[in-house]
Amino acid sequence: MSGRLEGRLIGLGVTGSIAAYKAVELLRALRAEGADVAVMLTPAATRFVGPLSFAALSRHPVETDVLALLPDGRIGHIVIGDSADAIVVAPATAHWLGTMANGLSGDVVSAACLATSAPVVVAPAMDGDMWTHPATVANVDRLRSFGYAVVEPEAGQLASGQSGIGRLADTGAIVDAVVAAVADRPIRAPEAGQRPPVVDAPVRESDLEGRHLVVTAGGTREPIDPVRFIGNRSTGKMGVAIAEAALDRGARVTVIAANVEVALPLEATLARVESTADLETALARALRNGDGSAGFDALVMAAAVSDFRPVHAGDAKLARSDGLELRLESTPDLLAGIAREAAGGTLRPRPVLVGFAAETGSLDRATDKLTRKGVDLLVANDVSETGSGFGTDTNRVTILAADGSRDDLPIQTKRAVADALLDRVVRLLDERDRAAQTGVSTEPAREPA
Ligand code: CTP
Repeated sequence: MSGRLEGRLIGLGVTGSIAAYKAVELLRALRAEGADVAVMLTPAATRFVGPLSFAALSRHPVETDVLALLPDGRIGHIVIGDSADAIVVAPATAHWLGTMANGLSGDVVSAACLATSAPVVVAPAMDGDMWTHPATVANVDRLRSFGYAVVEPEAGQLASGQSGIGRLADTGAIVDAVVAAVADRPIRAPEAGQRPPVVDAPVRESDLEGRHLVVTAGGTREPIDPVRFIGNRSTGKMGVAIAEAALDRGARVTVIAANVEVALPLEATLARVESTADLETALARALRNGDGSAGFDALVMAAAVSDFRPVHAGDAKLARSDGLELRLESTPDLLAGIAREAAGGTLRPRPVLVGFAAETGSLDRATDKLTRKGVDLLVANDVSETGSGFGTDTNRVTILAADGSRDDLPIQTKRAVADALLDRVVRLLDERDRAAQTGVSTEPAREPA
């Protein structure tokens, strides 16, 4: 027996509610009815569920960024708007209802709804008081006036611990509403070429789900005076590739961006810095949680940190006629400083630390650098080699590990290098957790609360 949505393309928009995880179940249910499903996530939604599960289950790219293009150059959310037989937004937050009621298109879900002539089904989920607030009531009325079908939330226990009306409607009720919305309409885009592309590449599992990674990216700038600085050629491409790969693998990611020339992932928490001193402050802030525990599971220091800085920076622009002699001092080794704290046992659970080493000509110094810095992994590359290093899209690296192992990877995209590195980070984190569990059973008194 064929499903009630056979041959249909359904756009599934997910917004930032605690119920976002239920959208995975909805995606499965829509597919079980025969639908082809393309998923769009607002930036807030990605904080609850990573795009990876959706990509794996839908076999289409997951849209998260209004400015992102598909590999073939088409605009992803517009393709969904133009080809979907219906768009279902579930869960829809109070914030998103307000956004849509006002026709704002800052996220892919509202942008696709604005751009489509297909029916739209909205399934709100929120706190009970939010649902009954006059603002929400007015927003829902407005969406109904657009012709949208609203699958009202149900009564029950809410995330706040209170009871009330606000729980996302049952998956079956949402699927029924989608079926009703498309009934009797012809299939809008029967040709595969009109629809979002199919992702054939095997997608990785969410092996960083529940982990927090801090990635530093870009190059620091050390002020000489208010207009001049000592900088370097780093563009931030490698660091951003690592951040994106980690997000796709389910991690929560903080990017500390020194000067970068590439777009930063919207789903990451972002801190912008300029100089080594700023980076030091940002790292110190990220180092611990409020309760003193380690603030991240892994730190990837992909930033090119200046080794020297002017001892004094001029307060006013220096005049050419005065001539200039710069006195430089070495900057503190930030990574080595954090590694010392981790080795001293004051940073728990002990994070995995990854350093980068840009060398020219030979990687002989890299092994020594790994030990000197006290890191778990060191990614070394020869930046003088073609296709490797600053500004390129590819990189040939050697990954050295504290256990003495060494992997010489072939030249490949920075994204592939990022995933190869994260494979090792995942392994080290899993080993760390296994060791901690063994510790609990044998030495309970030593385990921190
Ligand atoms: N790094 C750091 N603090 C610095 C300099 C570098 O934390 N002041 C980090 C970089 O982000 C990188 C790693 O250390 O992950 C290696 O950087 P590199 O400049 O190659 O190492 P140095 O210690 O500066 O060694 P050398 O100057 O001898 O090459």
